[in-house]
Amino acid sequence: MNWYDEHVAPRLVDAVCAWGGLEPYRREVTAGLAGTVLEIGFGSGRNLPYYPASVTHVYAVEPSRQAWQGAEKHVAAFAGVVELVGTDAAHLALPDASCDHVVSTFTLCSVADERGTTTELVRVLRPGGTLRLVEHGLAPSARVARWQWRLDGLEQRLAGGCHLTRDPMAVLARAGLEGRWSHAGFRVARTPWSYVTVAELARPL
Ligand SMILES: C[S@@+](CC[C@H](N)C(=O)[O-])C[C@H]1O[C@@H](n2cnc3c(N)ncnc32)[C@H](O)[C@@H]1O
Repeated sequence: MNWYDEHVAPRLVDAVCAWGGLEPYRREVTAGLAGTVLEIGFGSGRNLPYYPASVTHVYAVEPSRQAWQGAEKHVAAFAGVVELVGTDAAHLALPDASCDHVVSTFTLCSVADERGTTTELVRVLRPGGTLRLVEHGLAPSARVARWQWRLDGLEQRLAGGCHLTRDPMAVLARAGLEGRWSHAGFRVARTPWSYVTVAELARPL
């Protein structure tokens, strides 16, 4: 990893993730969860304060050492156990069907191996377990999508591998997850970053 990706990109990305406007999404994707949760792209633990007390164990996957160190205060304040179990969501050192839920907030855009990641998420979810996500992605507006394709390469270089043109729901459906509910739309304004999908999908029984 080069110096920019190790030191600058995580700070930049974390500063964006600190935006208070994301709070309603964090509340929505964590509401009602219980038991063991795998959170991929844990970042600096910004979802932890929103997990209900019924979540007893969080497995965190995060490649950035800096982000993980930044999570210290949230980890200390969390009543359950938080365990860093890996650095790449496409290679999880967890047994099959070991998680009640998986949470991904603004992470499927950044994983290098999107298909490998979704395969792993399905493997570690117990049958009937759910994936909750909030992700930005390719917009249904031709004008915005044109800009997303134009800026995609630059975004990947500047923002830790973040893609603007992914369609998270399509790749998750291909991995065998069933949609429970979802909603999508532009957040605030029509920009290349603001078409956001919030969803719950389940591993079939
Ligand atoms: C935009 S940030 C989101 C952080 C956090 N989920 C949040 O909502 O604040 C994307 C995160 O995904 C992490 N990431 C990148 N590649 C990853 C991979 N292959 N496996 C797991 N996490 C990854 C990045 O280090 C970063 O912390």
